[in-house]
Amino acid sequence: MSLNTDTRPVGIFDSGLGGLCAVREALKILPNEDIVYFGDSGRVPYGSRSYETIQKYSRQDMNFLISKNVKMVLIACGTVASVAIDYLKEIFPDIPIIGVVESACEKAIKTADASKNKNIGVIATEATISRGAYKKYIGESDETCKVYGKACPLFVPLVEYGHVDNGNTSNMITKLTAEYYLSELRDLNLSSLILACTHYPLIKHTIDSVINKDKIVKTELIDAGLEAAHRLKNALTEENLLNSANRKGRLEVYISDEVFNFSHIASNFLGCDINFEVTKIEIEKY
Ligand code: DGL
Repeated sequence: MSLNTDTRPVGIFDSGLGGLCAVREALKILPNEDIVYFGDSGRVPYGSRSYETIQKYSRQDMNFLISKNVKMVLIACGTVASVAIDYLKEIFPDIPIIGVVESACEKAIKTADASKNKNIGVIATEATISRGAYKKYIGESDETCKVYGKACPLFVPLVEYGHVDNGNTSNMITKLTAEYYLSELRDLNLSSLILACTHYPLIKHTIDSVINKDKIVKTELIDAGLEAAHRLKNALTEENLLNSANRKGRLEVYISDEVFNFSHIASNFLGCDINFEVTKIEIEKY
């Protein structure tokens, strides 16, 4: 039996470069797929903006990816996935859209079931936490779970300025900030903590060292971008949209403004050197 093959690229977008963390995972598990990534570097951050602005920006991001003939879109941005996914699904009914919320919530519910501890934490931007999408999804799936959200707005700029983990060593300023944000969550003895923002995997060790300090029973950290990359693979498989061509996929990266120190920041997120061309586009035109 010959496999169906769909050679159109997959689209992934984020408010900035943090979504390259999800691209990193997608490249690992979908090596044949071409990926078009858009990072709205000229308008980041989204996480402190109004819902209307997030809808407008993400509509333009989608329009750009659609102009690249993508077959499916992964919203790597936790803020867009929380605030605007229903809106985007409504105005783009012909393209399958995957966010980062559902898969992370499902993993958290499984962890809660297995540990018989129904306390779940979510950390993210202000817009994500105020929207309450994680709380709603988990509550609708298992009403015995209790969800505690905490906005951690300083984490994004800290990561952007390179105050990230170095292997198992924390950056001093980030560690202090993590203590400030996370000590109240540590006292709740969570079964899991969802890292619901693109940037947080780069400070996972620091978050872990704070949330699990002196703990015998550990809180599991759930990387929403990584879970979503697996959901993307499942969705492509189920909808028979995989590219079964026997060659390595290409990655095309587009941004909306130049980023000072781009290669360094982007390679931190992507986990490898940036040895491909990056194209700047006028996102307001879309
Ligand atoms: N990409 C955003 C998120 O995952 C973080 C940066 C921003 O605020 O735009 O929520």
